[in-house]
Amino acid sequence: MIVAGMDIGSITTETVLLRDGEIFTSVILPTGANSRMAAERSLSAALEKAGVIQEELAAIVTTGYGRASFAGATKMITEITCHARGAFFVHPRTRTVIDIGGQDSKVIRLDSQGRNVDFQMNDKCAAGTGRFLEVMAHALEVKVEDLGRLSQGAPRTIKISSMCTVFAESEVVSLIAEGQPKEVIIRGLHDSIADRILGMVNRVGVEEEVTLTGGVAKNEGVARALGDRLGVALYIPPEPQIIGALGAALLARELALLPDAKN
Ligand SMILES: Nc1ncnc2c1ncn2[C@@H]1O[C@H](COP(=O)(O)OP(=O)(O)OP(=O)(O)O)[C@@H](O)[C@H]1O
Ligand SMILES: [Mg+2]
Repeated sequence: MIVAGMDIGSITTETVLLRDGEIFTSVILPTGANSRMAAERSLSAALEKAGVIQEELAAIVTTGYGRASFAGATKMITEITCHARGAFFVHPRTRTVIDIGGQDSKVIRLDSQGRNVDFQMNDKCAAGTGRFLEVMAHALEVKVEDLGRLSQGAPRTIKISSMCTVFAESEVVSLIAEGQPKEVIIRGLHDSIADRILGMVNRVGVEEEVTLTGGVAKNEGVARALGDRLGVALYIPPEPQIIGALGAALLARELALLPDAKN
C-alpha cells in the first residue's frame, strides 16, 4: 500500500511517499508565492521519482500552513500532530520535539506512547525562525546553508540586542560597518535564536530525548547553541526537513487501514 504525506510550509513543501509503512520517496521543493501550485508540483515530483501514479495512493494527508490549498487531500492534520508523529517514528525515545521552520517555531512534548501532551508555538514574530536567518544571511552576503559552518569558526560571540527582525538586520549592518567579523556576528545570531527557543522550551518543560526538526535543524550553529543551553544532546534526523510530511504520511497510512477514521 502506498500513501502520501505533504507538508506545505511557508518556505518549503515536502512530499513523503510510504510503501508498506517504510519511506519510499521524499522530495523538498520551495513553496514560492503559490502554495496550491507548490503542492501539486511536489506531489508530481514524488510520484515521478517513485514511478507511481496518483490513483495508486490509498490516502493523502496534508499539513503545514498551506494544508488547505491542496484539493485532493483525504484529510488535513495540524503540524503539531504530524511533527510529533514523524519525530516519534524516526526516534521513538523522543519526548520533546523542537521544530524550527521558516515562519514559526514550535516545541512539543510527547508521552512514552508518542502522544502530544503539551506544546508552545511562536507564530507571531519572525525572530527565532528560519526567515530571521534568511534576512540576516542576505545582509551578510552569505548563503543560509553556510551560516552553520561559518559560525563554527567564530572565536567568540556577540550580543544581538534587537528583539525584532527588522531592527536586528540594522544592527547586523552596523556591526559589519564596525568591522566585526562575519563569523562572530553569525554566532551571535544563532545564540539569539537559541535564546528565543529556550524561552518556549522552558514554558513546556524539557524532557529527554530532544529531537530537532525543520530546515533550521540543518544549521549546526543553531543546533550547537541550543544544545549548550539545554544541556542535553539533540537528536537530528538524517533529513530533518521532511519530518512533518513523514508524520502526515504515517497518519495517511492509518486512515487507509481504518477508513472509518477519515471523517
Ligand atoms: N541546508 C540548510 N542549511 C541551513 N539552514 C537551512 C537549510 N535549508 C533550509 N534551511 C533553513 O530552514 C528554513 C526553512 O525551514 P522549513 O523548510 O522547515 O520551513 P517551512 O516548513 O516551510 O516553514 P513553516 O513550518 O514555518 O511554515 C529556511 O528559512 C532556512 O533558514
Ligand atoms: Mg514547517
